Amino acid sequence: MGALTDYLTQDHQQLDAWLAEALPDPAGAGYAAYSRFREGLLRHIAFEEKVLMLDAKERRGGEHLELFPILRLEHSALALLVIPTPTVALLGEIRTLLERHNPREEGPDGLYAVCERLAEAEAERLLERARSMPPVPVAKHYDGPRAHRTLESALAFAALGRSKQQR
Ligand SMILES: [Fe+2]
Ligand SMILES: [Fe+2]
Repeated sequence: MGALTDYLTQDHQQLDAWLAEALPDPAGAGYAAYSRFREGLLRHIAFEEKVLMLDAKERRGGEHLELFPILRLEHSALALLVIPTPTVALLGEIRTLLERHNPREEGPDGLYAVCERLAEAEAERLLERARSMPPVPVAKHYDGPRAHRTLESALAFAALGRSKQQR
């Protein structure tokens, strides 16, 4: 596998490490690690959605990859789960979702390898864009009644948004 796959897989490992560091006390001593995780995750997802998957779509004559709908849904759910003030339980839900999500992107048939094969010699340029991806603005925490604190609730809400968009 190539340099782009390596880079993005290492990004998953770095994000996992920050999440593990934040886990024991995410709103207290672990909040700095949590912030790095949240900013890093949103930037990582922005690259996958705005650069990588769009590049693959273009190279396939405008057709999205088969993996696109599920990855998109899980990205939306992840983005919802990083909105509330972090708790141990919430970080557990995020970790469960990442354990399901990341294997779809890594490995010989994962998103990264597929995109890298499609891009051929231009994969190097995608790697440059991954490295230079700017930070993504991060919203204030919201803990009101519409906050999503479980995987189930975040996925259900994300799926609802998708079906509305398709109508
Ligand atoms: Fe992803
Ligand atoms: Fe990823």
